[in-house]
Amino acid sequence: MKLKGKNILLGITGGIAAYKAAILVRLLVKEGAQVKVVMTKLAKEFITPLTMATLSKNPILVDFFDPENGQWNSHVDLGAWSDLYVIAPATANSMGKMANGIADNLLLTTYLSAKCPVMLAPAMDLDMFQHPANLKNIETLKSYGNIIVDADCGELASGLIGKGRMAEPEIITGRIIEFFSSKKKLKNKKILVTAGPTFEPIDPVRFIGNYSTGKMGYAIAEVLASQGAEVFLISGPTHLEVSDSSITKINVHTAQEMFEESVKYFSDCNAAIMSAAVADFKPSVQFETKVKRGKENMNMILEPNKDIAAELGKLKRKNQVLVGFALETTDELENAKKKIHTKNLDFIVLNSLNEKGAGFGYDTNKISIIDNQENITRYDLKSKQEVAIDIVNTLLSKLKIS
Ligand code: CTP
Repeated sequence: MKLKGKNILLGITGGIAAYKAAILVRLLVKEGAQVKVVMTKLAKEFITPLTMATLSKNPILVDFFDPENGQWNSHVDLGAWSDLYVIAPATANSMGKMANGIADNLLLTTYLSAKCPVMLAPAMDLDMFQHPANLKNIETLKSYGNIIVDADCGELASGLIGKGRMAEPEIITGRIIEFFSSKKKLKNKKILVTAGPTFEPIDPVRFIGNYSTGKMGYAIAEVLASQGAEVFLISGPTHLEVSDSSITKINVHTAQEMFEESVKYFSDCNAAIMSAAVADFKPSVQFETKVKRGKENMNMILEPNKDIAAELGKLKRKNQVLVGFALETTDELENAKKKIHTKNLDFIVLNSLNEKGAGFGYDTNKISIIDNQENITRYDLKSKQEVAIDIVNTLLSKLKIS
């Protein structure tokens, strides 16, 4: 599933190769992409919207509005939804219009307003292909940054043999996969993430823990993996699962176990993001059997756990990046800044329990990032997925990846 989570808009213009668009949609869906299809009126003569709707599992868009109910098909929304706009087949006529800014149908208005990259698979007869006007249009479209999947040589619908056949759907799918994988900025990078709470046992049925759910750390792991990183997610007890095969999840219970696993993996990693809410103390004695209820007060002596982030800070090599979190209730900035230095962090993500919607259990978070020069960047309240993207973008700049 090399295209999982990718939104691909497929534009079909009116040429005989439109029938191959059905195979292309099937291949994209098989790779996990979400596909929406926009067709020109002429394309409907070559392949039916019903076929395309069934294969893409989405309604087909042809007109600016639905004449049945007047619902508007916004070309701006379509462009914004797409990670990539693939126009296959792209006829000489449509490419001519695209090269010259003509927008007389939904497919073309979407092209002009799309913010995402565009890939074109030309298809036409050989004489049309070789015409200087067409060759000039292709060059113009390339100069706009559009990706061209070159036409093949072979037998054409006219019976003639030459260049002009649309590239096979398998070739176009390969180019799409290549396009997305070349954009992965953390390819060949290994990153450690700690997440969730730790549980410090008192007896076989009780523990000291905290309210951390692990959502923030898991969101970070997913974003890192989507950028091509190999992730080692050292997770305290949570109900969360990971779906990406490039995340290796190591389950732990106690701070000591988290410490041991973190030290084991860190030396081989380019960076570590310490998002776990590690229990600072553990009972110095663990009862082997369940402690019985009594009438007297019960005293428990707690001893400090190891500070995992600070230990990694000592082990950190020059080219490794170490990121911490700070969850503060008072003197937030001062406390967070202190932690940068005591733990030898490259930056710290501060979230305050005083902020509404931020912290344990919420699906949102409001953070500030403070780097080791004490520069502060404040972010709005966002979903934990969006916050994870902000954190990963800061990590990219520290790893000097643009
Ligand atoms: N951390 C850690 N090991 C610990 C305690 C904290 O690795 N035993 C990490 C956390 O994952 C986080 C950072 O250190 O990235 C700061 O955690 P926090 O609980 O805010 O700070 P503490 O150092 O525990 O200080 P305090 O609880 O006194 O605020």
